[in-house]
Order: sequence, then C-alpha cells, then structure tokens
Amino acid sequence: MAHAPLPLAHRGFGETLRRDAWWLQPLVVLTILSAFVVYATWAAFQNAHYTYGNYLSPFYSPVLFGDPRFAWIGPKPEWWPNLLPFSPALIILPFPGLFRVTCYYYRGAYYKAFWADPPNCAVGEPRNSYLGERHFPLIIQNIHRYFLYIAVLFLLILAHDVWDALWFDNGAGGVRFGIGVGTLVLALNVVLLTCYTLGCHSMRHIVGGFLDQLSRHPVRKKAYDCSSCLNRWHMKWAWMSLFGVAFADLYIRLCSMGVWHDWRIL
Ligand code: FES
Repeated sequence: MAHAPLPLAHRGFGETLRRDAWWLQPLVVLTILSAFVVYATWAAFQNAHYTYGNYLSPFYSPVLFGDPRFAWIGPKPEWWPNLLPFSPALIILPFPGLFRVTCYYYRGAYYKAFWADPPNCAVGEPRNSYLGERHFPLIIQNIHRYFLYIAVLFLLILAHDVWDALWFDNGAGGVRFGIGVGTLVLALNVVLLTCYTLGCHSMRHIVGGFLDQLSRHPVRKKAYDCSSCLNRWHMKWAWMSLFGVAFADLYIRLCSMGVWHDWRIL
C-alpha cells in the first residue's frame, strides 16, 4: 500500500517524484492563453474589419460607440482619452475578459502556467508561504459571480447577432432570409459560450442556492441538474468557447479583408 512519509518534506521549486511530463499541460496552457490574449488585444485595437455585411464580430458586440451603422449610443465619445486609440471593442471586451480571468477553472490553469503556484500537482513551488485566495489581491477573484450576470447579458446580445446574421441584403434596399458559413460560425460561437457560461460553478450556486430542500423546487432542481451536467465538461467548454470566439472574429476579419469568401448555404 502506498504511503507518504510524515511530516511532509518541503520540496524545492520543480522538485517532484512524478515521472510523467507534468510540465507539458502548464506549457500548453501558457502558450494558448498567451496567443489568445495577444490576438484579442491586437484585434481590439484595430477598429476595422469587425463587420462583414450583416455579420458582427463577437469581440466588438455590442458596439456602444463608434460606427453609426451599429452604435447603440453614438459616435466616439468626448471623454475618450486622446492618448488611447479609439476602438469600440476596448469598451466592452473587459467584461467577458474578466469573466474568464476569474473563472474557477482558468484560475487553476493559469496559476500553474503563469506563476507556477504550484507548477503542477505534487511539484515543488517557488515559495514557502501559501496565502490562497482569502487575501489581497486574489480575494478579488470572488467577484466572478457578478461577471456571470454580465456574461449572460452578453449571451443574449450575441444570440441577437446570430439572428441578424440570418438576414442578407437583397440588393433592392431590403433584406431576405439566408444562411452563410458566417451565420453558422456565429451560431456555433453562441452555443459554445452558452455551454461554458451556464455550466459556471457560480451558476449552480445561483439556481440551486438559498434553499433547504432543492428537490421541493422542481424547476430550480431541473436548472441545477442542467447546469451541473454542463459543469462536468466545464474545462472543455472553456477551451472550445475560447477557440470559437477567436475564430468567429478571425472569420469575419478575413472575409472583410477579402482574404476569405463567405459561402452562402441558403
Ligand atoms: Fe468557470 Fe464560472 S467557474 S465560468
């Protein structure tokens, strides 16, 4: 029978008895998350090629200020700092961005990948003390549940963008129903984001919390079960939705630049 010698010996940074490639997973996480942050930041600063016909990139939706064809409120606001290049994406992207940054799954992944705390399970970490998330600054991560409310709002807006992506210019000043590859790309993005968001740990607390006996509330019990079911795949939804949202922006960008052609299915 396996046993651990007590008291536990302190391991130096990177010391471990593990023989598998424990460094591989944090390295992959580091590479993919860094690539996503670099691409999303670059795309957000472009302020161009974020629409193609009736398609709107999820990185820019909703457009609160800017292009009058899409802006909900008005043109570039007066209060925008002169030193900062204007882009509608810079106003809205922090909200879904912070929803992901404070996600319980991503926290576990990027704590390992970005600051090796610990580098992986049963691998020595680079410091002796452990403060956890009960102290500043990581206690701020508890704000996650509030970003969940905003994320649900974004889902509704993105679902409306999919609806808009079904109506194409008919060449006579009106619109007609249709489906393009871009419509499917935007719809898939919403499906993946929905599975990721509704399976959030905080969502389970919201739909199943504050009750003595959940089984006495069949509607909330059903919602709790659905959220729990999605939660079992939370890591997979997290990655798939990350790729989905980046690809939706890339697709619309490349179509708008004339690099890709948007095939019409209907
Ligand atoms: Fe991952 Fe809430 S725990 S989105």
